[in-house]
Order: sequence, then structure tokens, then C-alpha cells
Amino acid sequence: MIQEKIPCSTDAVILVGGKGTRLRPLTLSTPKPMLPTAGVPFLSHLLARIKAAGITHVVMGTSYKAEVFEEYFGDGSEMGLEIEYVVEEQALGTGGGIRNVYDRLRHDTVMVFNGDVLGGTDLTKVLDTHAAKDADLTMHLVRVSDPRAFGCVPTDAEGRVLEFLEKTEDPPTNQINAGIYVFKRELIATIPPGRPVSVERETFPRLLEEGRRVFGYVDQSYWRDMGTPDDFVRGSSDLVRGIAPSPLLEGRTGEGLIDDTAGVSDGAWLLGGSVVGRGSEIGGGARLESTVVFDGVKVEPGAVIENSIIGAGVTIGANARISDCVIGEGAKIGARCELKGGMRVWPGVVIPDNGVRFSSDA
Ligand code: GTP
Repeated sequence: MIQEKIPCSTDAVILVGGKGTRLRPLTLSTPKPMLPTAGVPFLSHLLARIKAAGITHVVMGTSYKAEVFEEYFGDGSEMGLEIEYVVEEQALGTGGGIRNVYDRLRHDTVMVFNGDVLGGTDLTKVLDTHAAKDADLTMHLVRVSDPRAFGCVPTDAEGRVLEFLEKTEDPPTNQINAGIYVFKRELIATIPPGRPVSVERETFPRLLEEGRRVFGYVDQSYWRDMGTPDDFVRGSSDLVRGIAPSPLLEGRTGEGLIDDTAGVSDGAWLLGGSVVGRGSEIGGGARLESTVVFDGVKVEPGAVIENSIIGAGVTIGANARISDCVIGEGAKIGARCELKGGMRVWPGVVIPDNGVRFSSDA
């Protein structure tokens, strides 16, 4: 557990207003940061890390399905936090979302989080760097093995950010923007209010042009953007197996995580960090490999499911084979069906029994 070193001198802002289109159909009913991940809404892991770093005041910038967050977390007191919510009637983007919470900030140091990043960096070290450099803005930069899929952020020998580069086949550095930013509060007032602003495309380049003190805190900690089904499954599995850290799972990691109210029959296999949610039932001989099963799901005997997300209330028939799929809420997949290759089944869809084979890459 991270030591509490910086009690209450920093505000946390979490951006949770996105529509999460890449995770449809799961995000049609539930905003991405609230999707169950290793047994609890994804955001619970981030809030626990924020709390462990000694920050207690949290402002959430919400827009899409805004009410869901407050219904679940309330005023935050159960987690030992004080949570406020600021709703954007029209989504304002990442920069607009930060600007929109300005009036709620209490401290000169503001730590902003993308609400869909699973990370393991030591938050206190990012804050220490910000203070030591007397920075206007400090960003967490993570070194990745293949930076080509991301914009990259080169820094000089002192850690000062040189530029923000778009994706390229030949990146000059393997440092990418990891989605945690420490702002001096007054800098947030310079973001134009009341209109959509992208912090990555508009605000950060402007701050460099103005010669502001923009620094990077660079490390090689665990990092994953949970935006796609593949990343979501891997992130959840990594949490369950203890590869990705969460204060909520300390001492409980292993090959599978089963909710206390779920039923897993003898002879069922849970492998690769699979999760079984509340009230779900897994039949004998079924095999789950790196799979996230939400609440109230029934998996009948002999079904084999790999690298997939099974939405709430779904039924998977006996001996069905599912791999690399997303099954929307309440869908019914018949016995012996075979679904693979990135298929997404929409909520409530019924696929009949008897070995119908569907594949998006067929
Ligand atoms: P996709 O539609 O799948 O790209 O997902 P997304 O809408 O979440 O977008 P993206 O992954 O780029 O967003 C990064 C983070 O910023 C997420 O935590 C989003 O919730 C958040 N975010 C994106 N747009 C907005 C916005 O308009 N307002 C607020 N408050 N947050 C936003």
C-alpha cells in the first residue's frame, strides 16, 4: 500500500464523461468507468488508489449517463472520500471537462485522471516531481514496448516536455501520455469555458507554445487504456492475477475471482484471471479462460469461453464455444453455438441452439 504522504493538499479530478463507443454494446446501459472489473466498477479501483495516495477530495466530470456515478458512490464517505459531481449537459471533451470543474477546486495542485486507465504508477512520485520542478503542468508518461499505436511525448534531460507528436510508424521515443496530469490550478482557468476542448490536441500544445513549465514524470509502471474489449478483458485479468495493482484486491489475487453469491459447479474451470459476477451460475465442465462474466449470467455445462465479456443476465447454452466476443445484456446464446473473432451480440438477441456458427472474421 502506498504511504499517505500528501493528505488533503491536492484535489483529484476524474474525467468520466465519455460515451465509451468502442465498448458497445456494454456501454449502452453502463458508462465505461462503471463496468464491473475484477468484481467492482472499474472506477472503484482508481478511487482506492487515489485514497491510498492521501487525496480525499474528488471531483468527477460527468456527462454520458451522469446519474449512474452518484447513485453508486454517493458523497464518497463510505470510501473515506469526499466526492462531488459536475455534469456537462453537452459533452465538453477532456479539456472542457477539466475547465468545467474549476469552481469546485480547493487547492493549488490538481491531479486529473482519465477515468478509463488502469495504472500502477506511484501517484505521490508524480506529485513530488511536480513540486520539485515547480511545474505548471506535470504529465505521467509511461514507456511502452510498442509506441506506434500512440502519440508520443519526448522530454529533455531535465524532464521538460519538448513536443506532442501524433501517431507515427517511426516514433522518436517510447514515452506516451498515460492520462494523469498535475495542473497548477490557475492554469485550468486558461482553458476556454463552455465549449468542447481536447486537452491533448488543444490545451497541451498551447501551453508549450506559451513557454509554460510542462514536465513529464516517466516510468515503466503497469498501464492499460481500458477502451477496447481486448484491453478490458486483459486489464480485468491482470487485476485478478495481481499483475495490475489495486488496493481493493490485495491478498485476494489468483487465477479466478468468484463473487460470494455466484455458484460455480464442481468440474468447472476458471483460468487466466476470469471473473464470475454476482448471482451468476457456471455449470459443470464449463471452462472460462480470461473471461469477464457480469452479474446474473448462466453458463450451462460444457461451454467454453475465452477472452470474452459476458454481459449481465446472459445465458450461454451447453457446449457453446465463444472466443474474443462481447455478449450484450440479456442475450441468449443457444447450445453448441460457436461465436468467435470479435463478434458483438446486441442486448436481448437470441441465437438458437444447435451449433450455428458465427464469426466476424469468417
Ligand atoms: P470511446 O468512445 O470508445 O473512444 O471512449 P470515450 O468516450 O471514453 O473516449 P476516450 O477513451 O478518448 O476518453 C478518455 C477519458 O476521458 C475517459 O475517461 C472518458 O470518460 C473521458 N471523456 C471523454 N470525453 C469526455 C467529455 O466530453 N467529458 C468528460 N467529462 N469526460 C470525457
